[in-house]
Amino acid sequence: MEWHSRSVKPSNLDLLDELTSLVSASSEHGWSTAAVAGAVEGSGARVRLAEGGDGVLLGFVLARRIVDLLEIDLVGVRPGHRRGGIARSLLVGLIEDETAAGLAEAQLELAASNDPANALYAGLGFVVVGRRTRYYPDGDDALLLSRMTFSGRSIPPQ
Ligand SMILES: CC(C)(COP(=O)(O)OP(=O)(O)OC[C@H]1O[C@@H](n2cnc3c(N)ncnc32)[C@H](O)[C@@H]1OP(=O)(O)O)[C@@H](O)C(=O)NCCC(=O)NCCS
Repeated sequence: MEWHSRSVKPSNLDLLDELTSLVSASSEHGWSTAAVAGAVEGSGARVRLAEGGDGVLLGFVLARRIVDLLEIDLVGVRPGHRRGGIARSLLVGLIEDETAAGLAEAQLELAASNDPANALYAGLGFVVVGRRTRYYPDGDDALLLSRMTFSGRSIPPQ
């Protein structure tokens, strides 16, 4: 399926219910519409969406910019549309936009057992810089991933 990605001004977000359902499907924790609204409207919030040609929401990334740091909260792609490069494209677009605006570092926390996401971030040049043992309720470790950005340095080719 054809798709495109775009960043969204949180105040213009008219897709909140659809986004909430995709966010909840992409996370082990249920997200209420109010929680998603809080995540996309707070200070420094960054939202990037991928939509199919028919306007259906296929993927998202939620992040937060804090001075020169970007905290990536969650990325998710609709089941049935995975392995088509959507998550990679969303993250590349986000990091490139933020790098142009002076980003120094992007970081996130990720379950150690989440092989697809760990492979995704490794392919984008993220490295493991910390581990929180048995951090999650199911006993899984959390990994802290980081990617330093330098102006002029592009994301590694696929
Ligand atoms: C992780 C997730 C966002 C990946 O989305 P996606 O659109 O399928 O990813 P992409 O197609 O852009 O994949 C880019 C690269 O990531 C890696 N990757 C993605 N899914 C993978 C999988 N299931 N197994 C192994 N590697 C995988 C591969 O290196 C892939 O490159 P390749 O297809 O050329 O081999 C998706 O599986 C998802 O929504 N998972 C549930 C939510 C989640 O776990 N989010 C991460 C926590 S923040």
